[in-house]
This record gives sequence, C-alpha cells and structure tokens, in this order.
Amino acid sequence: MAAPIIVANWKMNKTVKEAVSFAKEFKALVRDAKAKIVICPPFTALYALCDELKGSNVSLGAQDMFFEEKGAFTGEVSGLMVKELCKYVIIGHSERRMYFKETNKLLNKKLKAALANDLIPIYCVGENLNEMQADKSKMVVEKQIKEGLKGIDAKKVIVAYEPIRAIGTGKTATADIAEEMHSFIKSFVGNVPVLYGGSVKPENVKELMKEKDIDGALVGGASLEAGSFGKIIEEA
Ligand code: PGA
Repeated sequence: MAAPIIVANWKMNKTVKEAVSFAKEFKALVRDAKAKIVICPPFTALYALCDELKGSNVSLGAQDMFFEEKGAFTGEVSGLMVKELCKYVIIGHSERRMYFKETNKLLNKKLKAALANDLIPIYCVGENLNEMQADKSKMVVEKQIKEGLKGIDAKKVIVAYEPIRAIGTGKTATADIAEEMHSFIKSFVGNVPVLYGGSVKPENVKELMKEKDIDGALVGGASLEAGSFGKIIEEA
C-alpha cells in the first residue's frame, strides 16, 4: 500500500507565533514518519512555516484560493501566490460551501486554476445531515464529483470525503460506511487518493486506514496540537 496522506486543516486557528512554535515541536516528532504529511495553516502563517519547515518531511497547503491570477479582487489570494509557498491547496471544504456559498461550478474554476499553477488540489466532498437522512448521500457526492471535476483530469487531484455530520462533532463515520463511499467515489475518479475527514483522532485513525479505499485523512481539531497530530501520523 502507498504511504497514507495525512493533512492538517487548521481552519481559522493559530497566529504566526503559535504556528511556528507548533512546527518546531512537530517536525522533530515526525522526522521518521512514513506518511506524507501536509499542514494547511491560515494564509498569514504560510510564509513563516515555509521557512520553519524547510528541509523537513512536512509539506504545506493553503486552505483555499481564488481562480483569478491577479487583479481587483479584494481579500482574495491566487494560485500564483499560493504556489510560491505551497504544494497543495484545499478546495471546496464544506465550511466554504456552507458559509461562503461556494458552488460546484465555482469550485470547478478554482480546481482548474490550481492545476494550471501546478498545485495539487485536495477537493472536498460530502453530504450534510439532512441529505444523509433523506438517503441522498451518494446522489450529492456524485454531483459534487461530476460538476466539480468537469473537464479536469481527475488523476491530478486528491479527493477528501467528509460527511458534514462528522466534522467537529466527534461522530466519525464508521469505517465501513466511509469505505463504501470511498469506493463509490473511485468508481468515478479512478484510482486517485481519497482521504477521509470528520473527527479523525489518534483513537480512530488506525481503524479507518485499514480500509482498502481510505488513503489518508484530513484532520481538523486533532491537528491543532503537535502531540495529537503526531500520534495520528504514528497510528496511520
Ligand atoms: P474535524 O474537521 O477533524 O475537526 O472534524 C475536519 C475537517 O473539517 O476538515
């Protein structure tokens, strides 16, 4: 099996100072890790982390980017800017879809712009609780995959499946439910890495990683502390 890809999504957490102090402790902890490790801090901490993590086995990713290259788009950050500091970029996290009304169509543009800048996009998909209860999980995820990846070579993308009910709630999807969705996703995208996200912790990561089609994890809350994120990597 290929090495698992373990991605930290810090969301809107950590000042530059906090991020650097995390990185100092963390890089020593994971020096011998086999997993591919990616940290996605807020934009403000990217430059300092790029410096701090130089020469280590930890890569950097952004949490979002805009599809235009430059111009009058106040507050936005482009792929051209992100690629100076990062190898990866998260696109379409459910919080962006929910709070900032990002649609599959918009995300398709962001994905194309990320690829045009040689970034590896981590494209997030996943149903919400209502959709799950209405038995529409697969329908929703299929639409997110088909519309989001329209006209895109899926082989260049990492997909992250995050059932929204599991994000930050402690209610991880069971490994077999996740596995079923991961194999469903691969029926569209082929053999690309599909990460699982939603309350991944040191205690449940091993169970999830045993599944054939779970190729890594996207970790929010449990990635904010070097010890717990290090433990997740060790267990994975
Ligand atoms: P969580 O977040 O690990 O805190 O549930 C995961 C995510 O939203 O990427």
